[in-house]
Amino acid sequence: MRKDSFAATALPYNHTPGTIKFFSCFDPKSLITTLLALILLMIILNLQPYLLSFTPHRSSLSTPPSTSTSTSSSKHTSDDPLKRRFESYGNAASLFVKIGAYRGGPSTFAIIGLASKPLHIYGHPWFKCQWLSNSNRSTSVESYKMLPDWGYGRIYTVVVVNCSFPTNPNHDNTGGKLFVHAYYSNSTQHYEKFVALEEKPNTYNESLYGPPYKYEYLYCGSSLYGTLSAARVREWMAYHAWFFGPNSHFVFHDAGGVGPEVREVLEPWVQSGRATVQDIRDQDRFDGYYYNQFLVVNDCLHRYRHAANWTFFFDVDEYIYLPDGNTLEGVLGEFSEYTQFTIEQNPMSAKLCLNDSSQDYKTQWGFEKLLFRETRYGIWRDRKYAIQAKNAYATGVHMSENVIGKTLHQTETRIRYYHYHDSISVEGEVCRAFVPVSGMEGVTFHDKLPFVYDDKMKKLGETVKRFEEEATGKVTPGVTQKLN
Ligand SMILES: *[C@@H]1O[C@H](CO)[C@@H](O)[C@H](O)[C@H]1NC(C)=O
Ligand SMILES: *[C@@H]1O[C@H](CO)[C@@H](O)[C@H](O)[C@H]1NC(C)=O
Ligand SMILES: *[C@@H]1O[C@H](CO)[C@@H](O)[C@H](O)[C@H]1NC(C)=O
Ligand SMILES: *[C@@H]1O[C@H](CO)[C@@H](O)[C@H](O)[C@H]1NC(C)=O
Ligand SMILES: *[C@@H]1O[C@H](CO)[C@@H](O)[C@H](O)[C@H]1NC(C)=O
Ligand SMILES: *[C@@H]1O[C@H](CO)[C@@H](O)[C@H](O)[C@H]1NC(C)=O
Repeated sequence: MRKDSFAATALPYNHTPGTIKFFSCFDPKSLITTLLALILLMIILNLQPYLLSFTPHRSSLSTPPSTSTSTSSSKHTSDDPLKRRFESYGNAASLFVKIGAYRGGPSTFAIIGLASKPLHIYGHPWFKCQWLSNSNRSTSVESYKMLPDWGYGRIYTVVVVNCSFPTNPNHDNTGGKLFVHAYYSNSTQHYEKFVALEEKPNTYNESLYGPPYKYEYLYCGSSLYGTLSAARVREWMAYHAWFFGPNSHFVFHDAGGVGPEVREVLEPWVQSGRATVQDIRDQDRFDGYYYNQFLVVNDCLHRYRHAANWTFFFDVDEYIYLPDGNTLEGVLGEFSEYTQFTIEQNPMSAKLCLNDSSQDYKTQWGFEKLLFRETRYGIWRDRKYAIQAKNAYATGVHMSENVIGKTLHQTETRIRYYHYHDSISVEGEVCRAFVPVSGMEGVTFHDKLPFVYDDKMKKLGETVKRFEEEATGKVTPGVTQKLN
């Protein structure tokens, strides 16, 4: 399992002097001044207690920890009792928290991270990139930043920094380092500098940044959290490994949802190189939107920008499906002039099953027994999407707004997805309400919602189970009997 590190590089409210003066403990001149001020203050307090309410001193109750280095200058305490002091302690949210930095082409890089949301919304932090080659040549460029989480951030927002040089800064392949200078504000005085990435000598390989790509299809999952059903994850993985074919790869992000049982069902796929599980559990130190899902999808986009023709973004309770007669290659061939396309959902009940005594639900997979599709029309439903990552600069959860090229939405007759909302963390049997067999025809109402019977996914069950068995050697009870 990979372990991603979250490196907090800077803090926004560091001890920057404003109108408040700070002194260093080791500066004898200001120490003496302050001691004199304190003595003066003590005299005033003793002689004129009524002045107390005007004196901007600390009450004994709010005395800060002794590690604090802030105090007021003598001028303010002695001369102007109305001059109020603003004493700051500690730090709130970082200027930038890096999770990944990637080369995105011969002359462009992306640095992905979190940053204090109010600072980026109300302030003007900005970034500059510098390439320092091992032969000591230095090239600097200004960067631009994107906040791709649509304002959903919380204490932290996601920031994607794009650094594009006029030419490849490592064209001679001597190697070097990409430094980022992160500025707190328009002023160029206060900034933090860190190494975003390093290229060792002779490791730059231009052919990695253009077609043909290693995979046809890549899956970038969002943060997995909570208690996930290992059975559902196993079924999802087997289905999509079959659906996308051997030339695909799956990237999961474990924000605490991959417990021992889920890990076990993913393990055969990780072992055979079909899947990667990134450990992002440290994300819980940074309060962003929903387990920092916007952060991980952007990290995944850039980490694998030139790894696949198409990158898909959807969840583990969703199953991509091709309506009758379509092949994945055919559909994506048709869409190839688009940078991205969105996918419409078939919303499925996560608890309604058919009351059919001829079925043994215990041995059936979720998508073989959850067969009731909700049919309200004209209401807004989330969409999922796929993208040609090489044309994307940043991405969201439902689509990307930072792309070059066209977006296609009219895809519903070509490709769709079945969405078993709220089924992924159900422990034990998912069939928790039964529809009489007569419900196979017409519309059935449950909890005031209309449902129709839809067994298109069920029809793929046997094929997927057989595929799983061949791919992992795992024995599925129902299937083996049939095979023998
Ligand atoms: C680059 O600069 C550093 C520090 O100034 C120096 O130690 C090093 O030898 C230089 N390297 C080359 C290749 O000039
Ligand atoms: C900082 O720069 C931005 C962009 O140039 C400008 O819109 C903003 O007003 C500046 N802010 C301050 C405080 O000067
Ligand atoms: C560059 O990458 C390509 C594709 O992975 C590989 O075939 C080639 O051997 C690499 N070239 C070098 C010099 O490493
Ligand atoms: C992927 O891209 C390569 C090169 O552009 C192309 O030849 C191939 O047909 C594409 N495959 C799919 C499945 O789109
Ligand atoms: C299922 O059908 C049987 C008869 O076939 C009936 O006895 C039973 O009550 C039904 N259960 C539910 C939950 O509808
Ligand atoms: C950065 O943005 C430029 C367009 O301004 C784009 O061409 C380039 O691909 C982007 N780089 C990355 C790594 O996203």
